Parts: sequence; C-alpha cells; structure tokens
Amino acid sequence: MMLPSSSDLHGNERFDLTIRGGRIVTDGRVVEGDLGVRNGCIAAIGGSLPPGKRDIDATGRWVLPGGIDSHCHVEQRSGMGMMCADDFYSATVSAAFGGTTTIVPFAAQHRGMSIPEVLADYSQRAAEKAVIDYGFHLILANPDEQALGVDLPQAIRDGINSIKVYMTYDKMKLDDYQLLDVMALARQEQALVMIHAESNDMIRWIAQRLIERKLTAPKYHSVAHDPLAETEAAYRAIALAQLVDTPVLLVHVAGRDTIEVIRQARQLGANVLAESCPQYMFLKAEDMDRPGLEGSMFCCSPPARDEASQEAVWQGLIDGTLSTYSSDHAPYRFDESGKLPNGDATTFKEMANGVPGIELRLPLLFSEGFLKGRMDIHQFVALASTNHAQLYGMSPRKGAIVLGADADIAIWNAERETTVTASMLHDNTGYTPYEGRTIRGWPEVVISRGRVVVENDQLQVERGSGQFLRRGAPALQGHLPQRAVERPQGRVLKALIGLDKEGQ
Ligand code: URP
Ligand code: ZN
Ligand code: ZN
Repeated sequence: MMLPSSSDLHGNERFDLTIRGGRIVTDGRVVEGDLGVRNGCIAAIGGSLPPGKRDIDATGRWVLPGGIDSHCHVEQRSGMGMMCADDFYSATVSAAFGGTTTIVPFAAQHRGMSIPEVLADYSQRAAEKAVIDYGFHLILANPDEQALGVDLPQAIRDGINSIKVYMTYDKMKLDDYQLLDVMALARQEQALVMIHAESNDMIRWIAQRLIERKLTAPKYHSVAHDPLAETEAAYRAIALAQLVDTPVLLVHVAGRDTIEVIRQARQLGANVLAESCPQYMFLKAEDMDRPGLEGSMFCCSPPARDEASQEAVWQGLIDGTLSTYSSDHAPYRFDESGKLPNGDATTFKEMANGVPGIELRLPLLFSEGFLKGRMDIHQFVALASTNHAQLYGMSPRKGAIVLGADADIAIWNAERETTVTASMLHDNTGYTPYEGRTIRGWPEVVISRGRVVVENDQLQVERGSGQFLRRGAPALQGHLPQRAVERPQGRVLKALIGLDKEGQ
C-alpha cells in the first residue's frame, strides 16, 4: 500500500485536525508534542503546530496508532452453521470503542459456494454497515480446480491476500494434500496462509467416547480438544509448509507445548508465524466448569488452557515467537442462536465455538501488558497494530504513526479505570467472559482517516463510512527467523515448488 506524495501533505492550508500535547508513539520513539492531520493523513508529528480547523487536547494522554484486529468473525456463519451475533455495524462500532480502527474479518466459503459469490456477498454487507476500514481474509473450504486455478488468484489480485484453512471441523477441514495445494498456490501468488491447527481425528475420537459415556457438559470441550491435538496439528502444518517452502501463520495458538514447537521450528529456520488472543491469556479451561451450561460462554477452539499456557502466551508475545495479538471475536449469544442450539440438552459438541473480545482486546493488553510492565509501549503498539499491518499487506498506510499514513489514531487515558460489564460494551453477544474485571487505561478518542469516530463515549460517524482495504503482499521481513539451516530439498522437489527452474 502506497502513501500520498509529499505535496498532498504539505502546503499552508490549516490542518483539518491538530492533536495537542500528547505522548506520540512513532517509529520506535516517544515524541511529546502535537500531531497534524490533513486530508485524512498524518501531515506533521511533533513540535508545536498552529491551530487546526479542529483541535483535540491530548495533554497527559498516549497518542497511538489505531489498533488492527486481523482475526475476527463478523456476520459469518460458522462451520457448524451458526450465525454470529454481530453484523458489520455492531462489530465495527464495538471495535472502534475499544481503540481499533481496522479489522480484517473473514469472508467464509462453505462447500458448494463459489469464491466470487462469497466475496461479493461479504463486500456488499460490509460496505453498507462498517464504520471503520476493513479488509477480508478468505476462508477456503473447497480448494477445487476452479478455486485454485482461477478464483483464488483473482481474489488475491483484488486485495484478499490471506487465506484461512481449517485442519478440523468436519465441514471445513482440508486434508494434508489439499493443504499442500493451498500452500503452493500461496507461495506462487504471494499470499499468507492462516491455519487453524487442531487434529480433527484426535478430537472426534475423544469426543465420541465422552458422548457415549454421557459426559456432555461444556467442560468436556477442553478434554476433547486435548492440547496434543493442537500441538500435533501445528507440527504437521509447519512440516507441510516447509516441504513447499511457504510461510504460514498459525492462528489462535493456545497451548504451552504448541508455542514451544513454534519456537523450536523458528530456531531451526522454519518460516512459521503465529498469533494468540486474549482468551488464552485471561481465561482458563476451568472457566468452562460452571453450573448448567454457563460454561459454554467460555468455549472456544482451541480452548483456553491453564496458568502455564497463559504464561507461555505472554512470553511468546514478548519474545516474538508470536507476532500478532488478535481478538478471534466469535460472538454467539447464550441462547438457541449460538451456545444452546438444543436448549438445556445441548452437548459440548453442539454449542457454538468462540468468545467475544473485539472491544476489550486492546484495553486488556494495555492494562495487563503495558501498564503492569510486562511490555513497553512499542511492543504494545507492534502487537496491537503494526505487526498486523505488515503481515497482512497494509503497511505503511496502516499500523503506524508516520508521515503520510492514514490518520488512524487512538488517544489513550492511562488513568481511567473501568470495571467491565457486558452492558457497557457495544457488541451484540449479550455477555462478556471478562465480566467484573478491572481494567486500567482506555482509548477515549478514536480517529479513522482523520474522522473522529468515538469521542465523549459516543459514536460520531455514520454506518457505511468505513472503507474496503485492498491489501498488498505480506511484508514478512523482520518477522521470519533468520534462516539457520537451508532445507536440502532435492532438485526435483525444488523445481516443483519453483525454487530451481532447471531441476526437471
Ligand atoms: O472457537 C473459535 N475460535 N471460533 C471461531 C472460529 C475459528 O475457528 O476461529
Ligand atoms: Zn480458527
Ligand atoms: Zn477465528
């Protein structure tokens, strides 16, 4: 993505907006001073600027890039056929109130659907409702000849540069052969493959035995989704990706052993990236052990684990084993539309998988990561925004406060204390797994392309004012490990994957 030329930014015209006296995080530095916005872009950083058409006082506040949430489910039907509780309006409003100015949700292909149809449908719904900017990843459930030969390359050319594939869920999963097909295509077309890594057969095998014994309560979800199911699939995905020399990103990584496999694979030179989410830092498997079916409100896949895994996720985010921190917002109501499709008789196999988190993602990390001293403000900004922009081809336009970038900004009050309740949030889930938590720090003013989206706890923009982002190729430099060991592929395999044109 390109930045505007300097003549668009400069000139004597007044700034459309001046943000005064904040602590601006830019380019690895903290600059105390003013920030000027013109034509929706950042036009001046630092020093003392003349009054703009509008001024916002940010004295004592952090002025940070707006967050980017590169994993959220919006107005999407799940693999099990359930519809999310949020549409593109409620999800983007909720995101904005939590300091996020760009989302990349999924356009989900289910078997029997054509990719152009899926993309047209999601594009239309988002264009009518989104209040902040958005792109799409494509969920691919049917990698047939038409998809691989025609539709996917076209989608990538149209700015959908990332593809999510599932190794589990009977109706979504690809087998290893199909995964190799998708990875090889992504290599050729410069797209990023995002992988939901869990072993379908391990989960199915355990679940079958639990159900036969009538062990159906929500807490058995975490028994069926044994940590080994994640670790085995992660390892397999990494091996497949290495075979065809394609970088991949493992989404919603939950378990300590999986993070260790990723860390070791990276040390051996594997081009694997990974993401984690608040539920794996702030929730545990034992949250699903509640009276009746209440535990279903904490059910996601893979499930949250134990304290050791929570620690491993923090460590992975801090040491760079995990590159992105996303919400995996998958909002399902605690009723028949989501968590309880069979009412009181719902088993753990039937409840919708996923937890909400699009609004609290950043406040949780700001409070528990930055303000508690686990990470510095630059690590916070990288995990909240910059890394997403780079990995998903939105940089330098999005993800950083730099001259010429979109003026996507969140002004954070580090002193504000909030006790979380579902009723203060703007999504449609009807509950939050973080109910009652105290959070310090809140993004009080949120700006997208120079438009003030949230101020004084009120939404300030119209539905449909967000814009589609045609993304470019992933910028992976700095995120992949230094290649310690060159894999000695044979010449024929090298030729097959395009590493050695002479090999055949
Ligand atoms: O449980 C989860 N994570 N639900 C959302 C769907 C997915 O696989 O990301
Ligand atoms: Zn997933
Ligand atoms: Zn997800």
